[in-house]
Amino acid sequence: MMAGAVRVFPNRLSAARGLAALVARNAEACISLRERFSLVLSGGKTPREAYKLLGDEMASEIDWTYTHVFWSDERCVPYEHLDNNAKMARETLLDYVPIPMDHIHRVQSFLEPAEAAEHYQKEVLRYFESRGSVPRFDLILLGIGADGHTASLFPGTQALQEVDRLIVPNYVSSLDSWRITMTLPLLNAADHVVFYVLGEDKAETLARILSSEEADLPAARINPPRGKLTWIVDEEAASLLPKTPFQ
Ligand code: 6PG
Repeated sequence: MMAGAVRVFPNRLSAARGLAALVARNAEACISLRERFSLVLSGGKTPREAYKLLGDEMASEIDWTYTHVFWSDERCVPYEHLDNNAKMARETLLDYVPIPMDHIHRVQSFLEPAEAAEHYQKEVLRYFESRGSVPRFDLILLGIGADGHTASLFPGTQALQEVDRLIVPNYVSSLDSWRITMTLPLLNAADHVVFYVLGEDKAETLARILSSEEADLPAARINPPRGKLTWIVDEEAASLLPKTPFQ
């Protein structure tokens, strides 16, 4: 069984509340300890409801003046493209909270992939170096695809082999598209990684990832050695997990 605490919520809304509350608690703890909170948002559709909660009824629960936001990955599309992850986060969360513009660290996704990755890596390094820290995010939110990918680390792609760089361009042949992604070294350096997985269509993949047999799926390779790993899932996604005695 893979490490990490698995928290199963009855439905999508309660799971969204659970994720938003976890983000707020992490922010409060980090800010009271070090007067900073570095949050990495995942892309995709799943986190929309949770981001909306953080931008609406829970907006006052995070001190955004101490919070910096980054992305686990980005599609190589213009800012206003429907597939742009930062656009989704702006429209659900960031446009509704008092976060200073220079605390929002978007990937310059309109650049050539190699240039966008290099620029983003410099931005990540600048954030941590200016605070006398190694690149160790306080909280990274991730999703998974049905193929077991996470961030833009897709099975069989070059980015999975990266052991030095923090951010790389990654050509995803199954999508015939370029992505910019955080690498395993950067993701696994985090203080806390939270996977957020909802829905029946993710149940088989979640069960494979959490069982010991499928250690080679990209999402199964996320396990921060000096950090916490948490899975926030709904009952549909958890439907194929072995029932714990207390469930
Ligand atoms: C992306 C994400 C990716 C996502 C999964 C799940 O850019 O697509 O970072 O890793 O989390 O593909 O996507 P859904 O939430 O849309 O199912």
